This record gives sequence, C-alpha cells and structure tokens, in this order.
Amino acid sequence: MLIKCPRGWELPESMATPETAYFNRRTLMKGLAAGSILAATGFPSGHVLAAKASDPPADDPSAKLYPFKKNEKYTIDRALTDPEVNATYNNFYEFGSHKEIWKDAQKLPIRPWMVTIDGLVENKIEISVDDLMAKMQLEERLYRHRCVEAWAMTIPWSGFPLKVLVEFAKPLSAAKYLVMETFTNAKVASGQKQFWYPWPYVDGLTIEEATNELAFIATGAYGKPMAKQHGSPLRLAVPWKYGFKHVKSIVRFSFADKQPKTFWQTVQASEYGFWANVNPEVAHPRWSQKTERLLGSGVRVPTLLYNGYAEAVAALYLGKEKEPLFR
Ligand code: MTE
Repeated sequence: MLIKCPRGWELPESMATPETAYFNRRTLMKGLAAGSILAATGFPSGHVLAAKASDPPADDPSAKLYPFKKNEKYTIDRALTDPEVNATYNNFYEFGSHKEIWKDAQKLPIRPWMVTIDGLVENKIEISVDDLMAKMQLEERLYRHRCVEAWAMTIPWSGFPLKVLVEFAKPLSAAKYLVMETFTNAKVASGQKQFWYPWPYVDGLTIEEATNELAFIATGAYGKPMAKQHGSPLRLAVPWKYGFKHVKSIVRFSFADKQPKTFWQTVQASEYGFWANVNPEVAHPRWSQKTERLLGSGVRVPTLLYNGYAEAVAALYLGKEKEPLFR
C-alpha cells in the first residue's frame, strides 16, 4: 500500500502554524531551553547553544567589525521584525522541513569558510569569507523579506552589494547567469540525508539581476553577524523576489552561460520557477498572494508588486513578458 505523506513544501499555506500559536508555544519552551532536553541534542563539541536564538554565532570572528553604517537609501516605512521572531521562524531545509530549525542550525561550523568563484571567469578564485569581507565596503540596509508562503518580515541586513562581488570575480562576456550554491555537509545538516531533495541547494540570477543595485550579500542582521539559521556566513538578499531565491550559507558563486535548474525547480517545477518575482496578482497554485502576514504582529497587509521595489527592478523584465516572471 502506498501511503503519501505531504512534505513541507506540499502543505497548503493555511496549514502553516499560525505564528501567534507558534510563538506562544515557544515562550513555553523557553523555560526548558537551558535544561537537559537541549543538552541531549548531540552538538559537536565546542558548539554552544546561544542564550537567545538571534545571538550571533560564537564562532564568528567578524563580530568586532559590527555595526556598519546604515545606507539611508534603503529604509522602510514599516516596523522592523523583532529579531527573536525572525530568528525562530525559518526555512533552512538542510536542517529540517519545519520552521523550528534554529537550534539544529547551530551545528553548522562557519569557520574556516572558503568560497569558490568559478565558471566563466578570468581566473578561478578561492577565498576565505573573512578575506572576502575585508575587500568589501560593508553597510546596513533595511529590506522587506517576503516568503512565497505569504508571510513577511522587515530586516536590517548588513553586508555588501552583489554587484561588487561580480566585479571582483571578473566574469567573461559569455557569462549570462550567476549561480549560488550552499554547503554540503550531511554530518551536521541532517536534512541533507533526505535523498529526495536535490542537494546542494542551488539558485541563480541573471547577470543583470545580480548587478542590480538591490541585490545584496548579507553577512549580518540587526547590527551583528547573522545567526546561523539565516544562512551565516554569507546569504543572498534579493528583496523583490520570493524568499526561496535567497540562497543561504553560500560556498560557491559560479558564472554560467545557461540558466541553471534551481533546487526548487527540481523539487516542484509547476510551483517554483526561476524568476520568482513577487506579484499580488499571480496566485501560488495552492494559495493567493494578494496579502501577506507580517510575522510577529500577525497583521495582514496587501502584497506589493516586486515587493515594493518596482522602481528599481521592473526594467529588468522588459521584453521578458512571456516568461513566467512571477512564480
Ligand atoms: N537556502 C538554503 N540553503 N536552504 C533553504 O532551505 N530556504 C529558502 C531561503 N534560502 C532555504 C534557503 C526559503 S524557502 C526562504 S523563505 C528563506 O531562505 C528564508 O530565510 P529566513 O529563514 O532567514 O527567513
């Protein structure tokens, strides 16, 4: 007999835990956090569970560099999401297909962290994350963050424009796409033992998108190094696109002449495409995208075309109207 269990991405949006119930449950759990239950989670030696989920990783030596100057061009007309709310409601399938992965994500060792830049470039580059950060001008930007599951947050990211990394990489003129890849380490990321997922997590942008002023590589959040569950030490933030484009814990930037097949296209191509631009008028096959829930407050607000960033990005898609730009 074939029993079909719905996997994380197959749940209808309405079945997601309402965040008020979710956060009440978390408050209850807090009292247990320091006790024996968490002591038994099997962390590699030297990995200490942070007191608060939003605390920066203890093994991140870049902490002394923070905070960075705020870039006033990128501010927002709505309240920032509480960092604890942000840090305890995540998607990071490497650590499980539920929202409570933050504890397991602490198992990820983030130093040494080497980044490879290869493919259609003048010279392949292997560089440590700290050397890469030293070459970049770091800053803070407030961005909207909109998941395809119709929840949203507002986050102060720290990091640098992806455009500067592209310039540093010196891509050849044949390069049309930038592909980003997450680490593979099933020893610490138990989700990577789930063979039906096409690990490693991969997604990509066109070169025009990657060099758009909004495309950002985040190293931190809330004025500190980013907590591991957000994709420490390097994570993409492209705020006009659904969250699944925001590749976490990147180890490789590869330049290509062909559009890559992304992680989510391999999993469910009928629902998740390459472009994934936010649009209230284009429903997900299983739910509407007209509104979004602001995590923390639970308030529902209208979804904005390109998540409110049309002025900066709409021109990228002129002439591409026949492409599935909004899923
Ligand atoms: N990157 C990796 N490597 N693995 C993932 O599972 N999930 C994506 C994206 N990046 C994911 C990932 C999805 S579906 C979303 S909505 C965002 O990360 C969530 O980012 P957040 O947890 O920091 O809010």
